[in-house]
Amino acid sequence: MFTTDDLCSLRWDAVSERVEIIDQTLLPHTLRWCHLESLQSYCHAISTMQVRGAPLIGITAAYGLAHALARDASNEALALASATLLATRPTAVNLRWALDEVGNAVRELAPSARPRAALEKAHALRDEDIANCERIGDNGLQLLRALKPGEPLNIMTHCNAGWLATIQWGTALAPVYKAHASGIPVHVWVSETRPRNQGTNLTAWELQRAGVPCTIVTDNSCGQLMRQGRVDCVIVGSDRTAANGDVCNKVGTYLKALAAHANGVPFYVALPESTIDWSCPGGDEIPIEERDESEILSIAGVDAAGDLLEVNLAASQSSALNPAFDVTPAELVGALITEYGNVEASEKGLQHLRSIATGA
Ligand code: MRU
Repeated sequence: MFTTDDLCSLRWDAVSERVEIIDQTLLPHTLRWCHLESLQSYCHAISTMQVRGAPLIGITAAYGLAHALARDASNEALALASATLLATRPTAVNLRWALDEVGNAVRELAPSARPRAALEKAHALRDEDIANCERIGDNGLQLLRALKPGEPLNIMTHCNAGWLATIQWGTALAPVYKAHASGIPVHVWVSETRPRNQGTNLTAWELQRAGVPCTIVTDNSCGQLMRQGRVDCVIVGSDRTAANGDVCNKVGTYLKALAAHANGVPFYVALPESTIDWSCPGGDEIPIEERDESEILSIAGVDAAGDLLEVNLAASQSSALNPAFDVTPAELVGALITEYGNVEASEKGLQHLRSIATGA
C-alpha cells in the first residue's frame, strides 16, 4: 500500500511545476485536487483547512516558501513570506519547523541559487515525511502485536491523523494500516471530532478506501465504549508535544486520555520528531488555536440530491467558544510512537529519543 501517487494528500505536478492538494473541506463527498498558484493560495489552503494535520501543514508551508522565493529571493522576501505562512495557524509546530528547515537551507546562498534549493528542500521534506510515517507504522505495529496476540483488535482514534494529515501513511493510522496489511483483524472506532468532524469526514473516508473496518461514534460515547471493554487501545496524533512529554492534539483528546486511564486502556500518541517543540517546557505554554464560533453553530453536509448545504444548529442569538486543541498531560500517555522508536512520554523519554535522532 502507499506505493502509487494517488494515495497521497499533496503532490508535485512536474508538468505545470505546481503543487496540487486534495481540498479536504470537500471530503468525504467530493474528491477534488486543486493547484496552489500563489503565496496567498498557500496561506488560504492552510488557514481554511483545505490542508490540515500538523505534518501536512508543515510540508505545504515549505512548498509555499519555495513558491514565494521563486518570485523574489531577496532576504526581505524570505522573511516576509516566512512570517506570512507562519501566521496561518498557531498550534501545529511542524509549520514553524518546516519554514525553519527551508529558511536554513537557503539563507547562506546567493539569491539566484535560493529558489532551486528551496524547492529541493521541500521535495526532501515530503519524502522524509513519507519515510518517517512508515517507520512510525512499523514501531506502532510492535505495540499492537503485543496487545492481544492472535485476537482481533479494536482501536480508537480521534480527529484525523492518517495519510490526509501527512503525505502518506499518517501517524496514528500508520500502525493501523500496517496491522491490517499484516493480517491482524483490526477495527477502528472513529470518534466524530466535533465541531469540524475530521473523524467522520476524513478518518472514516480514508479507512474505508483502504478496506479497514471502522465505525463512527460520537465523541461523547467513547468513555462508555472503554468502560464496556470494547476498546483495546487508543492511538492519536499530536500537533505539538512539549519537552516534558505533554501532548497537544485536537480538542477532545484529553477526555479520551482520562477515560482510557480510568479504564486501564493503553493510550498511545504517534508523532514524528518534527512535532516535538524542544523549546517548550510544558503543555501550558502551547498556544491553543481558537477558531470561529460558526464552526459550532452551523454544520455542512449534502442533501439527498448530493448538493452541499450549510444549516444553522443553534438559536440565532447563540454564541460559542471554539478552542481547536487541548493538552493531555504526559502521565496519561502510555507511549510516544515515533520514527526513532517508542519512548516514554517524559523529559527522560524525549531526551533518549533526541540522543537517537542526533546520534549523540
Ligand atoms: O485542526 P486539524 O484538523 O489540523 O487538527 C489535526 C489534528 O489534531 C491531528 O491529530 C494532528 O495534527 C496530528 S496529524 C498526523
